[in-house]
Amino acid sequence: MKPFEKRESWKSRTGFIFAALGSAVGLGSIWRFPYVVGQNGGAAFILLYLIFLALIGFPILIAEILVGRTAQLSPFGAFKKIGKNKFWGLSGKLVIFTGFIISSFYSVIAGWMLGYLIEAIFGHLSFSGSAQALEHFDKLSSSAFWSIGFHFLFMALSILILFFGVRKGIEQKSKIMMPLLIVVVIILVIKGVTLPSASKGLKFLLSPRWDLVTPAGILIALGQAFFTLSLGQGTMVTYGSYLSKKEDIPKSCFPVVLLNTLISILVGIAIFTIVFSQDLQPAVGPSLIFETLPLVFTKMKLGYVLSIFFFLLVTLAALTSEISALEPFISYLIDEKGWKRKKASIFTGCLAFLIGVPSALSFGLLKRFTLFGLNFFDFVSFLSVNILVPLGGFLIVVLVSYIWGIKKAFEHLKVSKEAFFHHRPWVAMYFKVCLKYISPILIILILLNILGFF
Ligand code: PFF
Repeated sequence: MKPFEKRESWKSRTGFIFAALGSAVGLGSIWRFPYVVGQNGGAAFILLYLIFLALIGFPILIAEILVGRTAQLSPFGAFKKIGKNKFWGLSGKLVIFTGFIISSFYSVIAGWMLGYLIEAIFGHLSFSGSAQALEHFDKLSSSAFWSIGFHFLFMALSILILFFGVRKGIEQKSKIMMPLLIVVVIILVIKGVTLPSASKGLKFLLSPRWDLVTPAGILIALGQAFFTLSLGQGTMVTYGSYLSKKEDIPKSCFPVVLLNTLISILVGIAIFTIVFSQDLQPAVGPSLIFETLPLVFTKMKLGYVLSIFFFLLVTLAALTSEISALEPFISYLIDEKGWKRKKASIFTGCLAFLIGVPSALSFGLLKRFTLFGLNFFDFVSFLSVNILVPLGGFLIVVLVSYIWGIKKAFEHLKVSKEAFFHHRPWVAMYFKVCLKYISPILIILILLNILGFF
């Protein structure tokens, strides 16, 4: 069925950049990046991560945006139009499914962040020691009412934004939220680096420790480069489909990669200078944010305000990512089923909320319920982030490099005589080598590793 309404589009390049940056900067870049850096060799890990961004992150981002922009359709329509057969239509559906599943459990963790923001505002995050902080977190995360409640609230907020569409919803709200997020990051960094033992935190994050770099760590850097740019789940294809045919894609995407990296590193600096200033060790996983940091804030001057800023930062980051994970399915319903945006948004939000409920209960009521030895949350996050996302990336690389053909695809990048691709044959060569050879090989390595071959 043909869409009934004219396809939406971004109002400006800046709007697109903020929206795509909003998608990229999320729990992955703010919460996960700092601790994987600290654990896997500091600056040595950052260097590897930057290499992977250049070799696979940036080229695949360009490929996804290009596919969407050329087809001006959701990932399903775009894959089908370019791949020209049913298999590619199905692949497009798989990618949309991946984004959708991610949105369902991402909202659970993001709901915790929102819940902690409220806790911080009401002054409930003041602890005498780590045992008490841990107990508080366990109590909240295992409560069905609290977990489902904030999952619902967070999903409702996301849908409220999507309800207003591409320009008035995603673009306009990202243009408010992202600058606000950047200001909060800068405030936290200034506070962090002016603390007495800031150098300990800086050393932990930034000094290169090659002895800590392991093969597993290298694959983490690779996976991080992928997840942080929201690749392999239809998001960037969809955001690309709202981009004007005149837009110079590499020029619009480069700031996204650069700023996302910068923000991740700055957040890392803020977190570790603050944690080390209180002589605490940075914990790994959820405990870093939900136990260690609240404890640190309790001990600090101005800790009350800082804790509010911090949870506001993470909530904003998660919100702009969540909407981008939901949007591919919404755009599919609009393009293919002819639904109105409002109906598509509410339907998608309700469904994602319901599918997220077992994830929200995985830390309490459904703790003992397992699939392949994992609780529901761990199972869906493992399946989507570790298997479906690289698979989606692989499909897009094959589609662009081998089905569409790099040469034909790149013709669509030469939008004007001044375009980035026009007079720079080496750039085209670099992207070609990355997309045709390096990316598929690296993605196969990620998948083999996850399936236990190494
Ligand atoms: N890029 C986001 C992050 O680093 O947290 C994660 C993300 C966003 C994943 C959007 C999936 C998605 F569709």
